[in-house]
Amino acid sequence: MKPDFWLERWEREEIGFHRTSIHWALTTYWHQIAANSHAPVLVPLCGKSVDLHWLMLRGHPVVGIELSPKAITEFFTEWGRNPEQERNSTITYWQAENIRLVQGDFFEVYPDKPFQYFYDRAALIALPATMRSQYLDHLISCLTTRSSGLLVTLEYDQQKMDGPPFSVTHAELSGRNELYFDQLARRDVLAEYSHFAKQGLDYLFETIYRVTRI
Ligand SMILES: C[S@@+](CC[C@H](N)C(=O)[O-])C[C@H]1O[C@@H](n2cnc3c(N)ncnc32)[C@H](O)[C@@H]1O
Repeated sequence: MKPDFWLERWEREEIGFHRTSIHWALTTYWHQIAANSHAPVLVPLCGKSVDLHWLMLRGHPVVGIELSPKAITEFFTEWGRNPEQERNSTITYWQAENIRLVQGDFFEVYPDKPFQYFYDRAALIALPATMRSQYLDHLISCLTTRSSGLLVTLEYDQQKMDGPPFSVTHAELSGRNELYFDQLARRDVLAEYSHFAKQGLDYLFETIYRVTRI
């Protein structure tokens, strides 16, 4: 999946993945990830997610990484903030209050300091299988040894529909040695996504994991 694929989706405003409300998994489970900590949180492939606000309001400095300048511009415009910008070769940093968005390719971004926490909703599942493995490798390289994160995936019959979003199973995840995936919730959300039902899917599980670096 090339960067142009996503840049064009943003240009054409084909952003059906974007939610206007905070994801339920964040409000339900984040306390199990970060308890009372106010340490920084990494949000890879963040789009213009409103979940960034929730994490900041909970006291975390938030660092999102996103390819699309349109997504980032819209994030700050919709928030009503005029971010400071800093350009550094292929990467542009945008910052307002405690949210810093890094405009660049996640695979080419190397944070100065590793993160203790991360939040992934629709990032891993945005990538095909070959890239998912690279994504997890790069994510690990951005994390401290005792880090943890919240991961939201989808599972469906990949024979019936092509991604993105791609189906990611527990079996695929548990093949990783350096990460432990503890399933916190799994529910069929097909009725909430009528366009997926039209593709002939019989089920669409949204699965929530607490991920721990081991
Ligand atoms: C499915 S969307 C999910 C966005 C966000 N996590 C959300 O929940 O709304 C995936 C996002 O990742 C971005 N993206 C895809 N590949 C990327 C990469 N290599 N580096 C940074 N961002 C990327 C896309 O532009 C898109 O905004």
